[in-house]
Amino acid sequence: MIVDQGKNLDIINIVNYFSSITKTEVKQRGDAVSPNIKYSAVIAGTGFDVPEKILTNEDLEKILDTSDEWITERTGMKERRIARPDEAASDFAVRAAVKALAEAEVTPEEIELIIVATVTGDMPFPSTACIVQDRLGARNAAAMDLSAGCSGFIYALATARQFIATGTYRTILVVGVEVLSKITDWADRSTAVLLADGAGAAVLKADERPGQGIITTYLAADGAHGIDLYMPAGGSRIPASIESVQKRLHYLKMNGSAIFKVAVRSMADVVKRLLAQAQLRADDIKLIIPHQANLRIIEAMAKLINFPLDRVFVNIQKYANTSSASTIIALDEARKEGRIKKGDLVIMVAFGAGLTWGGVLLRF
Ligand code: UT7
Repeated sequence: MIVDQGKNLDIINIVNYFSSITKTEVKQRGDAVSPNIKYSAVIAGTGFDVPEKILTNEDLEKILDTSDEWITERTGMKERRIARPDEAASDFAVRAAVKALAEAEVTPEEIELIIVATVTGDMPFPSTACIVQDRLGARNAAAMDLSAGCSGFIYALATARQFIATGTYRTILVVGVEVLSKITDWADRSTAVLLADGAGAAVLKADERPGQGIITTYLAADGAHGIDLYMPAGGSRIPASIESVQKRLHYLKMNGSAIFKVAVRSMADVVKRLLAQAQLRADDIKLIIPHQANLRIIEAMAKLINFPLDRVFVNIQKYANTSSASTIIALDEARKEGRIKKGDLVIMVAFGAGLTWGGVLLRF
């Protein structure tokens, strides 16, 4: 029997599908109970790579009904990097990984696990992590992708830390990469001006000294709000068909104002929880590295937790929203700009599709 595919592509059906999920209150999770930590997970090297092509707000004015003034005032973005048609996620991931490995003085053969956080991998399978493993020559590494929207790198870092804490692995490569331009509806000004491409990578190593590297993590999710940021087609619910393409269902859809409110509240909540878990005060934190989705979200979060903006890292003006890659690109830039010194405490915090949110508190 031939399966009847490609029918029933009414977007309303998908909306109903999400709404049928029972809305539940998000409870305390994460590191509330400290895991059994044998080893600290320290960041031994970081690196990032972005496409060469720069797309400015002025360039966008030529193809969309938008303006530099609107984009700058509403988002803080001035320009973003966009991949060439022949470039895919693993191209940027490999280049970022090579830089991180060089700084960490780790060879590809020494890597035991590769985690790639992405929602725009090279293809649905094999995983982009396996493609990266092959291209790096990391033949001793297990490899997997992780999907948590813009919180992807935070989720991947927290996952990697567990493998190191328990003594399972000593050397892990964590990558955040997106080529969002390939799932952007370039006719939709409400999303097209925001999204961009890039990759960042970190090498995590086991350290026998307690209290080094990642001190505590917190992860959360609320699937009931998945409909606010999603790509309807291309999976098993709506596989690719002529109809799905005609209905533009292979593009990212976002309810920006709904996400905005959750983003501010959830990121502020994450910072408070991380400080409580680590029994630290906001004054102890040298730098907060937030997901770069909107400058107004970042400013509102800082205000909500009463944290000075000059200790919140922002590079949204250069790279816009690179989803899974944004916090690790920002961390690498902050380090290379001398904003983080040895011994400094840093919080990385993000939110994104899922919805998901989370953070990591670490000592450099
Ligand atoms: O990474 C995680 C996922 N993404 C996010 O975190 C994004 C979160 N949301 C946001 O950053 C903001 O909600 C946006 C930047 C997406 C939108 O800003 P906003 O202040 O919430 O604007 P809005 O959606 O309420 O739209 C205001 C107006 C609308 O016009 P009307 O109805 O007031 O006449 C829009 O049609 O701005 C219009 N608009 C634009 N105008 C010029 C929307 N996009 C554009 C545009 N250029 N690119």
